[in-house]
Amino acid sequence: MTKVTKEGAGKFSYHYPFCATIVTSHAEGRDNAMAVAWHAPISVNPPLYGVSISPRRFSLELILQSKAFAINFMPMKYAELVAQTGGSKGSNVDKFAKFNIEKEESIKTNAPVLKKAYAAYECELYDHITLGDHVWCVGKIVAVHYEQEAFNDKDLLDLTKVDPALYISGENYVTTLPSSVRHLERNDYGNR
Ligand SMILES: Cc1cc2nc3c(=O)[nH]c(=O)nc-3n(C[C@H](O)[C@H](O)[C@H](O)COP(=O)(O)O)c2cc1C
Repeated sequence: MTKVTKEGAGKFSYHYPFCATIVTSHAEGRDNAMAVAWHAPISVNPPLYGVSISPRRFSLELILQSKAFAINFMPMKYAELVAQTGGSKGSNVDKFAKFNIEKEESIKTNAPVLKKAYAAYECELYDHITLGDHVWCVGKIVAVHYEQEAFNDKDLLDLTKVDPALYISGENYVTTLPSSVRHLERNDYGNR
């Protein structure tokens, strides 16, 4: 392999893969959903999760109005739903009706939680800040929904039960191989 070094961010796609998620919101009596690949856990106490949303997204209006969103982690078998919510604008279309998106009951916010997600966080908007050309929306996780069988007794995602949808930019999705898991004890490798 030949290593390339150059100034700037290049195609800004060298950091993938990321989980291909769907961020949902509700305001003005309507639900919306958008694909989001730019997201990150931020803090344990309080539990904070961030999503990076362009001001061009209809979802941002709903999130700022309702001060809530949910982030839904999707299995690969529903990657089409990620592409559908990422390929259409809530300002033009009711995505829940058009794509027959099924919801389950949210318990702490009005943001819809998706039935097909293997896990979802309901978040109250904790803060938001414009950083460059996106708005970093920080959510405080106030409820979690997850498929019990998808996680083992150590709270690890059981890859024999769920294939998480990952995104590697452009129109490309990928998933994990259960046999690729390596367990590396920190103490065997660290020096503290
Ligand atoms: C896999 C995938 C990941 C995406 N990630 C983001 C993201 O992290 N932030 C963002 O602002 N837009 C992202 N988008 C684009 C939005 O999902 C897309 O513009 C969508 O139509 C916005 O919908 P809305 O206008 O109804 O909110 C992504 C699209 C795809 C397909």
